[in-house]
Parts: sequence; C-alpha cells; structure tokens
Amino acid sequence: MKLFLDTANIDEIKLAAQTGLIDGITTNPSLVAKEKKSFEELLQEICSIIKGDISAEVTSLEIDGMVKEGKHLAKIADNIVVKIPLTQNGLCAVQKLKSEGIRSNVTLCFSPSQALLAAKAGAYIISPFVGRLDDISEDGMNLIQQIVQIYNNYNFETQVLVASCRHPLHVVNSALIGAQIATLPYKVFEQLIKHPLTDIGLEKFLSDWKKVNTK
Ligand code: E4P
Repeated sequence: MKLFLDTANIDEIKLAAQTGLIDGITTNPSLVAKEKKSFEELLQEICSIIKGDISAEVTSLEIDGMVKEGKHLAKIADNIVVKIPLTQNGLCAVQKLKSEGIRSNVTLCFSPSQALLAAKAGAYIISPFVGRLDDISEDGMNLIQQIVQIYNNYNFETQVLVASCRHPLHVVNSALIGAQIATLPYKVFEQLIKHPLTDIGLEKFLSDWKKVNTK
C-alpha cells in the first residue's frame, strides 16, 4: 500500500521524506493557501523532494480551462498528477488530458456512482473523501469498500486513494479493504508510528539495561 502525505508544507514533507516511507504527496487549494511560497515554486520544491506522484489541483470549472491548467501543471515535473474535481466538465477534462498522456487524480468523490464514472473516464486515481463523509454522519469507509468492489468487478485500473483521513483507523481500514493509496496529514502519519506500550516497553528495557554489567 502506498502512503501519501496530504500537505503543501515543505518542512513536513522533508521530515516525512526522511523516513523513506512516503510514496507521494497530495495538495489542494486550501493546503496551498496556508503556505507563503507561490504555487509553482511549492510544486517544484515538492517534486524535487519526493519522486512519487505529486497531485496539483486545477481551479478552472470549464473543460478548456481545466485542460489548459492541467497541461501547464504537468509541464512542471514528470511526477505531477493533475487533480480534477468530480464534475461533468471534470470528467470530460480527464479524457482530454488522458489522450495527451497526462494523468488525473479525480478529487471530491463522495459516491460510488461518481467513482464508477471517473474510472470510465480513465482517471489514474480516484480520491474519495472519507473524513468529510464521517463528518456528516455517513460511513466513509463503506464508500471505499464499494469503490474497491466495483473496480475489482470490472478490472478498472484507476487507483483508489483514500483522502480526508483523520485518524490511523482510516488508514488501517483502507489497507484491510485493499485500497491502493491513503493520503494523510503529517499528524496522522506520526500517529501510525506511535503506541504507548512501545514507549513504556522501551523505557523499561532501557532502565533494566542500566543494571547490566556491560564491561
Ligand atoms: C485529498 O487529496 C485532499 O487534499 C484531502 O485529503 C482533504 O482532506 P480534508 O477533508 O481533511 O480537508
């Protein structure tokens, strides 16, 4: 399973990259707005740190605008994946970009029917947002289960990227279901590593080790 970091913050990306466990990055307009650097500057820097897929989102709503922005973003680096919103125009833009060899991550997916259409359009990645569904008392992980089953039924190659992960269980359940990718905030990445019994066990081992004659 691939783990992506959901951030445009260079410090977080550098820290996480040191672990060697981060396979890609997802950004969105809200994440980019938190940073001081320009969008292109950020993307160039991110692509130089992480060699896997880096998602960069278009902001046009019309097909031609999305395609134009997508082509521009794709030129920044070979590992850019163009993020396209799941709208009717977006699904058309995905097909046009694909015909030019540009990969799309279709974002803001909240239903299995949307995911089915994104796969038919030829999306490279589909991004269902589990946390935002949970926020409105719907079951985000159930959506992942449904999408994985639909894609398996028809051998769609579109990869399922579980987005809007809020806690480690979202990641673990994504892995159990068999989603190819989960993208997570840096805090959730840290939470995946930590366990209180690991800390307690390590403290005890180290204090006992002081009683051992190592001379
Ligand atoms: C995914 O690509 C999005 O950037 C992201 O996961 C959204 O997460 P949020 O719902 O926590 O904003």
